[in-house]
Amino acid sequence: MQRADLDFANLPFAFQQTDRNIRYRFRDGTWDRGELTADQTINLHMAATCLHYGQEIFEGLKVFERPDGRIQTFRLEENAKRFQRSARKLLMEPVPLEVFKEAVHRVVQANRGFVPPHGSGASLYVRPFLLGSGAEVGVKPSREYLFVVFVTPVGPYYKAGFEPVKLIVEEAIDRAAPGGVGDVKCGGNYAAGMRATMGAKGKGYSEVLYLDCREKKYLDESGSSNFYAIIDGRYVTPASPSILPSITNMSVRQLAEDAGLPVEARPVGVAELGSFAEAGCLGTAAVITPVGSITHGEREYVYSKDGKAGPVTTQLYNKLIAIQWGEADDPYGWTEVIPES
Ligand code: PLP
Ligand code: COI
Repeated sequence: MQRADLDFANLPFAFQQTDRNIRYRFRDGTWDRGELTADQTINLHMAATCLHYGQEIFEGLKVFERPDGRIQTFRLEENAKRFQRSARKLLMEPVPLEVFKEAVHRVVQANRGFVPPHGSGASLYVRPFLLGSGAEVGVKPSREYLFVVFVTPVGPYYKAGFEPVKLIVEEAIDRAAPGGVGDVKCGGNYAAGMRATMGAKGKGYSEVLYLDCREKKYLDESGSSNFYAIIDGRYVTPASPSILPSITNMSVRQLAEDAGLPVEARPVGVAELGSFAEAGCLGTAAVITPVGSITHGEREYVYSKDGKAGPVTTQLYNKLIAIQWGEADDPYGWTEVIPES
């Protein structure tokens, strides 16, 4: 294996071209066998439903090089299942679980040299997506679909890595509504949130924290991750119908529970901001990112004064990444080695 000539230890979270991506087409009621290609572009009908009516969903997962040089996935089946839930909600053709898994394996095998070396802190981000590719002008689901998976080596989502970020509560813009599509991973949710995220970045914050859009009283999640707080020694994470069920959060809740930390999934009020001992963001890209402060209106609630993550956040982060990187045993069966070819 020839490793790509990249500065893996200093990679940003950005698109980096690799050798191959893989594409499967759904036509006449069946999926084809998929094809690896070096083509970086997609030829689409101008009336494709993804372009006009937003029939587009995606996933994000990472693969890691273990200390023994083998490559492992982290909770791939959960991403595959969430991809199916997203597809069903938008009346798209769900990708069979075994096709999803095969696609990830094939595209990673075809880009082996782009998997960042163990110890570099970088990983290979896998981005599966599904497009309604059939031509329609009436608002109705496509009869044809294109399923693509590309990979790109990435560093930390927030530049500083495992260092506290500043968040701001977004009071005006809603990302998603209960009964809407906030609980699935469709492109439209991210388009809806861009104004908020860019506005926050312009003011020096890393991201926004959305509020529930009915009462504007409870914390939902950020634009790219779930959220938790440590309150009175408990791991507390918002329960809401409009947030994406995060696979990282699901994993960290399990780790917290097994470390003897009580776990609560419940509405978390903005009125509780002053009671957090620690807070963090959770996501594939964000991993666990400690939250150093949250600004709400005129008030800034500070959770890290020394620029470091708190003890509970640090403990959970270390446990999670040790499993992801294959440095610790995985008693949960979350990881799986990708065969060499
Ligand atoms: N919430 C949103 C809006 C996201 O974009 C993501 C990223 O995938 C998450 C939460 C975290 O989900 P996961 O941990 O499955 O990556
Ligand atoms: C992920 O964490 O995989 C995401 O999809 C977040 C993304 C918006 C970069």
